[in-house]
Formats: sequence, structure tokens, C-alpha cells
Amino acid sequence: MNLHRLVVVSKDPRVLRLAQRYGREVFGADDLADALQIVQTVNPDMILCDHQTNPSNIRKFLKGADKNVADIPVVVVGSDDVDSGLSAELSQAGVHGYLRGSQDYDQMERIIDGIESKSGMAGWNSGEGQIQSGLGREEDADRFFAENLAGAVSMVGKSSATLNALKMTKLVAGSRCNPILIVGETGTGKELVAKAVHTLRHPNEQFVAVNCAALTATLLESELFGHVRGAFTGADRDKTGLLELAGSGTILLDEISEMPVDLQAKLLRVLQERNFRKVGGTRNIACNATILASSNRNLKNEVEANRFRRDLYYRLNIGPIVLAPLRSSERRDDIKLLAEYFLKTSTICPEKRNKVTSLTKLAVENLERHDWPGNVRELRNVIERAILLETSDKIGLSGIVIDPTECAEASKSPTAGLIKGFSLAKAERELISRALKETGWQKTRAAALLGITRATLYAKVKQYNIEKESAAAKDRPADILVSSVPEAASC
Ligand SMILES: Nc1ncnc2c1ncn2[C@@H]1O[C@H](COP(=O)(O)OP(=O)(O)OP(=O)(O)O)[C@@H](O)[C@H]1O
Ligand SMILES: [Mg+2]
Repeated sequence: MNLHRLVVVSKDPRVLRLAQRYGREVFGADDLADALQIVQTVNPDMILCDHQTNPSNIRKFLKGADKNVADIPVVVVGSDDVDSGLSAELSQAGVHGYLRGSQDYDQMERIIDGIESKSGMAGWNSGEGQIQSGLGREEDADRFFAENLAGAVSMVGKSSATLNALKMTKLVAGSRCNPILIVGETGTGKELVAKAVHTLRHPNEQFVAVNCAALTATLLESELFGHVRGAFTGADRDKTGLLELAGSGTILLDEISEMPVDLQAKLLRVLQERNFRKVGGTRNIACNATILASSNRNLKNEVEANRFRRDLYYRLNIGPIVLAPLRSSERRDDIKLLAEYFLKTSTICPEKRNKVTSLTKLAVENLERHDWPGNVRELRNVIERAILLETSDKIGLSGIVIDPTECAEASKSPTAGLIKGFSLAKAERELISRALKETGWQKTRAAALLGITRATLYAKVKQYNIEKESAAAKDRPADILVSSVPEAASC
């Protein structure tokens, strides 16, 4: 049972974990004012606050907000040490639910059940509006997912390639295999699988991720291992690395092929010894985390080209999870299902929700003919573009614009002018740059403004090569990507 979107106002790791457990997409807010901004953008199913949020501020928040916001249930998690007399005050303030402290955490399911039945939402996909055409939640889950593992493995698809990947995901997650390698072309769902492994193996622990391509060698090393004060110029205080922050949870080393060779040797040592030292440190720190490494390059070729250490490759390649490209004959069967899933769950045009409900046979055939170099991500974008452009209830052949610029050039039809010069990619790049600028490159805020997850924002910044105007983007330390659950319908 999961809500689709959840906004959490708390810095307490236990409350954050609770949010991650019950929300498929989790947005963090500093306070209620911050939450309001996020709420207006992402339209969540619940706001979760901790006991630090003053009841009178909650009352003001609910009273001052417009009806749509005031209808979003607010749930407060108390502290184990705080007097539970707070409950009456909170209920007067209009909160929907109150958990006294950690002893009440399991009451969350009951609260979510109540929210779902009140709004008629279907649990696995509740944030995306009501399930259409009278389908019940189990029927929907059965239709899109190979097995009813919703909430943990939200991988749509029933092709033989997806079934194999799912089988492997469950096998390695249930074993003690560590490290775990996830390979596949861009957009095939590696991050989705990484989060699935995490959720299946230790859902209540921390998930952190670092993109090895996004940082200079020095920064990446200090990001991973941490450093002690004085280790190098500018190290004015101790820093905890991601390997330590991951604790007994998961660390995802995204784009491992881009890791500098020197650092590859240090990583190999961590994998063998299960401990490491901070940069400049002398104390060994135990590494208990599950280490996931993902790559969209063929690592074997990288080894042959001397860009990737052979010993590290063999160490990683124990039980690899391989995601096939959409165009492969073993995965082509997923195209229709994925297209229908994105059609059903997209939030790109809320006013068209439940109105554009299906694809014509010709449209599906057209989708199945394309090669999808950007894989599932590209397919999702095409469907969202089709929803944007569609004026009827059915997406037909003309609604499938795979590359808007190309189509505008090639088409000689009188309607070509409508899309000539229009590039969704250009518009998207522009919008992302603006959001980043407006938020001073605070990625969580920018992602919330755009209504996408941080992971998607990272991917887009990379895809469009967007750089901060002043300082070089490479010299910024990576944000910790505190996991929510697999993103499904962000644009
Ligand atoms: N099987 C799937 N079912 C539903 N959504 C999917 C599936 N596979 C991928 N997606 C969606 O497609 C997008 C791209 O997936 P993801 O970020 O996991 O790809 P990736 O392999 O990590 O790509 P990259 O190498 O570019 O980082 C995401 O929005 C993800 O939720
Ligand atoms: Mg990725």
C-alpha cells in the first residue's frame, strides 16, 4: 500500500524513512511555507509533519490555503519524548491523523487505508487520480506489472526480457550478493531497479546515490569516503562520506564506468576488505552497505580499452541485472503496455486526466516500429507530448510525434505549421534552466517546481548539458539522493 506523492516536513531520519516507506515519490520541505510551494506544484496525497511543526502553524496553513490544498490530509508524527496531550490540539487544528511516536508507526497503514477509501483512490497508483474505466486496483496492477509487487518493484512490463530482469532483481535482492551490477542503455530503468533492490532488501534503511560522471576525481573521492579536517586545502571540517552515510542501507554508484581508474582501485579495496578510510584519515570505518553499480556503457569494452579495471569488473559482475533496450525483440512487447501505463499515470495535463484514455491501433503500431534510442524515458516523453497535443479522447497516429523537429521539417501537410519550429526538448531545457536559476540550483526545490523527481532532474540536466552560469557545475559536491520509491510518471 503506497501513496503516490507525499510531502514530508521533517529532518528526523525516522520520519523520513516512514515517508519513504509509504510514498512512491517523496518531496522534502523545510517548513510549512516551503511545503505549500511544493504542494501547489506536485498535488500530493498527504503531508507528513513531525512534532516540531507547531499545531497553530498547521491550523493557519489549513485555514489560509485554498480548498484544494486544505483537502490534502496532514498527518503528524509525534516524538517518543513528547507528551501525547498534543493530540487534542492537533485534532482541533484539523490534522487528519496523529501517530504518538515510533510505537505508532504501524498505524500509518490504517491512516492510509482511510485516506484511500475516502477519496476512492487505488492504492498502488493513488496520486494519479482515480482509476479509469471502473478498473479496480488489483486488475490494474495485474495488467501493468508482471507480479503484484507494487510499491517495491514498479517495473511495468511482461516481456521475456522484463521477466528475466525481475527474476534476477528478486534473486539478488533476496541473497547476500554484494556488490550488484545493473547494466542497460540509457533510460532502460536502471535506477528503478536499483531502488527496487533497495526496497526489497532493506526498505527502512538509507538509500544514497552518487553520479560518478558528475564530479571531478577529487570531489568524488571525498564524496564517497569523506575526509578529515585539513586533509587538503579547503577541508576546513570533517566530512562524512556516502559510504558511511548509507549505513546498512544502499549506495548506488551511478555511471560507474566514469569513475577515475585510481578511484576504481580504492573501491575494489572497499569491496574486498569491507572497510575504508576517510581521505586523510587513519581510522578504518566498516562498510555495511549494499553497493549497487550501474552502467550504460558496456563495461567489458571499457576493460578492453583500458578504461576500466579488469579486477573490478569481475568483482562487480557476480549477478548482474541486465535491462534490455526497448527495441530488442525480447522487450518490444512492453512498448504497448508502457505507453498505456504512461497514458494512465501521466500528470502532465491534469485537466486532460481521465479524458485522453486510449491509443488507436495504428498509433500503437507506430510506437512498436520505432527504435527508441532513449528507451523507456523517450517513450514516456512521446506519450506525454501526445497527451499535450491531443484534443480528442484517443491518441491517434498523428498524435505520435517521435521527433517534433524532424516531423515539422518533413511534413508538407497544411497542419505542419502548427508544430514547425516547436521543439518540446527545447522548451523542456528552457524550463529546467529557469527552474534551476530561480531556485539558485537547489535541485530539490527545482524538481518540486517542475513536478519531477530529483533523479529525473539529474538525468535531464545531464541530457541537455545544462550548466550553472557562474561556477563550473563539476565542482559542486553531489546532493544525497534520499530515495523515495520508483518514479513512474514524472516528466
Ligand atoms: N519498466 C518500467 N516501468 C515504468 N517506468 C519505467 C520503466 N523503466 C523505466 N521507467 C521510467 O523511465 C525513466 C528512466 O528510467 P531510469 O531513470 O531508471 O533509467 P536509467 O537506466 O537509470 O537511465 P540513465 O542511464 O539515463 O540514467 C524513469 O522515469 C523511469 O521511472
Ligand atoms: Mg540512471
